[in-house]
Amino acid sequence: MKIARTEKAVHQNDCDAVVIGVWKDQPLSGSALEVDRAGNGMLTAVIQAGDVATSRFKTTLLPGFPGIAAKSVCVVGLGDPASPDTSIPWRSAAAASRSLATRKRSRVAFYLESADLADSIAGSMTGCIGQDLYRKEKSTHPFEEIQWKCDDPGALSRGEILGNAIDRTRTLINEPANRIYPETFADACVACGRESGFGVEVWDEKRLAAEKCGSLLAVGQASSRPPRLVIMRYRGSDSKEQLAMVGKGVTFDSGGLSIKPNEFMLTMKCDMSGAATVLGAMQAIARLKLPVNVTGYAGLVENMIGGNAYRLGDVLTARNGTTIEVHNTDAEGRLVLADVLDVAVTSGATRIIDLATLTGACVVALGNNVAGLMSNDEGWLETVRQASMRRGEAAWPLPMFAEYDEMILSKVADIKNVGEGRAGGAITAAKLLERFVNKLPWVHVDIAGPAFADKPAAWADAGATGYFVRTLVDIAEGR
Ligand code: BES
Ligand code: MN
Ligand code: ZN
Repeated sequence: MKIARTEKAVHQNDCDAVVIGVWKDQPLSGSALEVDRAGNGMLTAVIQAGDVATSRFKTTLLPGFPGIAAKSVCVVGLGDPASPDTSIPWRSAAAASRSLATRKRSRVAFYLESADLADSIAGSMTGCIGQDLYRKEKSTHPFEEIQWKCDDPGALSRGEILGNAIDRTRTLINEPANRIYPETFADACVACGRESGFGVEVWDEKRLAAEKCGSLLAVGQASSRPPRLVIMRYRGSDSKEQLAMVGKGVTFDSGGLSIKPNEFMLTMKCDMSGAATVLGAMQAIARLKLPVNVTGYAGLVENMIGGNAYRLGDVLTARNGTTIEVHNTDAEGRLVLADVLDVAVTSGATRIIDLATLTGACVVALGNNVAGLMSNDEGWLETVRQASMRRGEAAWPLPMFAEYDEMILSKVADIKNVGEGRAGGAITAAKLLERFVNKLPWVHVDIAGPAFADKPAAWADAGATGYFVRTLVDIAEGR
């Protein structure tokens, strides 16, 4: 997909479609006004007739529009300007792109005035990419070329970098578990590091054993696909500061012996979303050449069943020496992250953020579209929360009161891998993780809801969303 700047006026661009935005019940301005003038008031007329949807993220295609060189005008509704929303730049461009991608179009030009051009450009790229990776007859047709009317070449290249990073994340998640498993995920990281400019180290099962990652290894031991830990190093600064981004990479979560019912297992190829999000962010951070130090970690295992599976009642010894009694083999993500967080701690991290499709309980608490934030550090939590709100990728704090700590105590080992029943399940999971960060400033982002969509939205196909890639880049940047 080629991304280019256009200098052409909106009515003179002879591409397949031009995209303009229209606010609800507002006088036309900018490119919309130019389109209206070129058509002698035709846009005003069709809006007044009620034939153009101006509510937020609704799109209307107007083919053969008078005075316009492009084959069609695509109008995206921006809604009521009195209710602003930081997701507008990203979602409005993506919604227009998605609506135009229902059939083949080679060149589409965007004339959207945006509060954040880079987000909009990224959205225009990902909106026309769907989850139909293996369909002969595609449902979503990526454009050959996307043009943007924008004065800022910096925004164009930033947008392109973000769009490609999100595409990397989404594609990895949408790939099925028979193609993406620990080894192939690690290969993707190595290739990405080479292309994008960060170092990649891969620990195989022997190294993981030598490193005493007993908790991570137990989860993976029934799979014919051996586990991996990928460490991605980007160094853009001489400072001692080192942000660790840690991702849960369960390439398939069957639940293990505590097996999931069919409906819950169906989408569990998405259980490596945290790791894929970290990889996408590493790609963007390296390509943007940010003046910071970031280390990305992907803890990669497949949670399967077999004669060698880890059992209920098993006691695992994690890398930091903590013993964990297994009460539910489906609470595997925290067991993987326990060891990966310890690797981050012992490798010089000064701040940690982890991303994981960790608990259904977080989805119950916050719904499908909001991530849960759990932390041991108010300031760092606030930094992450602000970045997420700025990028329109909603996330909200859950409490980490000391009383939850008791809920994961075991009679046999130091801790058990679930809380007391289902109550507070997102938090008790985070409480387990907290024991492995050695009191470093840490935020845990539970993306079980927003990482993967069961239904399409106006701005995105169903499947992987790429949620939090842009927020992670902001966080790394210290914006
Ligand atoms: N990967 C799941 C969580 C999940 C649920 C992700 C829905 C995405 C969508 C996780 O490993 C899991 O199974 N968690 C259990 C924990 C329980 C056994 C304590 C859950 O949430 O039910
Ligand atoms: Mn599970
Ligand atoms: Zn899981």
